[in-house]
Amino acid sequence: MRIDGAVAFVSGANRGLGLALARELLARGARKVYAGVRSPESAGDPVPGLVPVRLDVTDPASVAAAAAQCGDVNLLVNNAGIARVLEGTLDPAWIRTAREILETNFYGIVLATQAFAPVVEANGGGAILNVLSEVTWHSPPPVSAYAASKSAAWSFTNASRTDLRPRGIQVLALHVGFMDTDMTRGYEMKKSSPREVAARALDALERGKEEVIADEQTQSIKAALGSEGAQYLAAQAAQP
Ligand SMILES: NC(=O)c1ccc[n+]([C@@H]2O[C@H](COP(=O)([O-])OP(=O)(O)OC[C@H]3O[C@@H](n4cnc5c(N)ncnc54)[C@H](OP(=O)(O)O)[C@@H]3O)[C@@H](O)[C@H]2O)c1
Repeated sequence: MRIDGAVAFVSGANRGLGLALARELLARGARKVYAGVRSPESAGDPVPGLVPVRLDVTDPASVAAAAAQCGDVNLLVNNAGIARVLEGTLDPAWIRTAREILETNFYGIVLATQAFAPVVEANGGGAILNVLSEVTWHSPPPVSAYAASKSAAWSFTNASRTDLRPRGIQVLALHVGFMDTDMTRGYEMKKSSPREVAARALDALERGKEEVIADEQTQSIKAALGSEGAQYLAAQAAQP
């Protein structure tokens, strides 16, 4: 996928990784970048070249309206996401919380893919970039509902790649561990810079890749999947 001259739509582009991806797309010569945001009126200082479009990925009508409004898109970035922390898998709020997260992180990707894939195809093909996570491949109990949403989104990503490749649409999965964004504010751990992650993701997109693993920790989790020491088998519960 060539970014120079592309027209991109990035969900959740008002902050965090979405904003970093939008800025990096513009820096690489994207002709236009639509910023899919819940509140265009409170999206902060306008970024030159970014075109705010109202979007709530949990609302089918909103996603369909955005796709109808942005008929020149040839790159969709499914970035919008939420995370919630629970007490663990026995938390009585688990199912309610998982439903809330899945609406955004899973069904949101499905809705946007179904709405935008015909647009991308009609514009001669292009790409869809789905933002996943290292927790696609293991599930710390406090974030197990979030992890389930990313595993589900990975599954859909893989199926849509098979469906969309013959339509000239490259489907790229981005797997990444902790990044320094609002989502991890208040948690002390090693975090990567969303700007560097955005650059790695777009390098992979331009090289025609179908998967990009943006940091060393996520690379080692993926590499160990077939071993007895796989993270999902070896993880210890946090001590109270
Ligand atoms: N931060 C990490 O450590 C990390 C690690 C791995 C993967 N990720 C993934 O990276 C992506 C971006 O996360 P981030 O770290 O940049 O988080 P963030 O700073 O919290 O930003 C999340 C973005 O998603 C938007 N969003 C949430 N629900 C939405 C909805 N229903 N419709 C439209 N937009 C919605 C938010 O919009 P509002 O401003 O309106 O809330 C915001 O722009 C997510 O998919 C996340 O799961 C993050």
